Amino acid sequence: HLVCPMNSSPYVDPCKPSQQVWEEFSQSFTPAVRDVVDFAKSIPGFRDLPEHDQVGLLKAGTFEVLMVRFASLFNVVERTVTFLSGKRYSLDTLRSLGAGELLNSMCEFSEKLAALRLDSDEMRLFMAVVLVSADRSGIQDLSSVEALQDQLIRGLRNLVIHNHGEESATTFTKLLLKLPELRSLNNMHSEELLTFKVHP
Ligand code: HEM
Repeated sequence: HLVCPMNSSPYVDPCKPSQQVWEEFSQSFTPAVRDVVDFAKSIPGFRDLPEHDQVGLLKAGTFEVLMVRFASLFNVVERTVTFLSGKRYSLDTLRSLGAGELLNSMCEFSEKLAALRLDSDEMRLFMAVVLVSADRSGIQDLSSVEALQDQLIRGLRNLVIHNHGEESATTFTKLLLKLPELRSLNNMHSEELLTFKVHP
């Protein structure tokens, strides 16, 4: 099985060579990864960072940006996950195929993010904040990354204040508290990826 919604289905033909399974999986998720790269380039100021740092932030942050973008694949009310092919599977099915705590944590994350009712501009700005807040180990020009992060966070705060009236302070705080949650989902997901690579 390959219980990741970036695949087209959780089922894997046992007769297929594992190389082909990876090949098809990567065909499924590559367009989404490309979109993150294009999105990054569209963030004002991102392309002015040293190329090494652009690559570093993308490596560390792509999963987190995708998690936000695809949070709506997790439907907590109907207890389903839609895979990139558009096929939907119940949480129980995915659990029987081996999904575990990480699937639960992602559902919980998605439910709470949806509750904040962000519009598409807020979503994009939040994804920009997520990307420039990615793990900084190995970053060369820290002060430029921090300056860009500050600018994007201020922009997000202004937009949320403008759109959310009375609730804006809590909405903004809750958004910033999503950053460490995303980091933790990223770490848990990397573990899954590694174990999968070792025992496909
Ligand atoms: C699990 C790869 C992005 C959600 C996995 C597994 C792999 C993988 C290899 C282990 C599968 C298994 O053991 O059956 C990738 C790659 C990604 C990616 C290469 C980069 C594009 C994402 C994103 C999400 C996601 C963006 C969420 C929107 C999940 C879930 C599981 C999983 C829910 C199963 C967790 C569990 O076992 O509890 N992924 N993934 N993945 N992935 Fe991904």
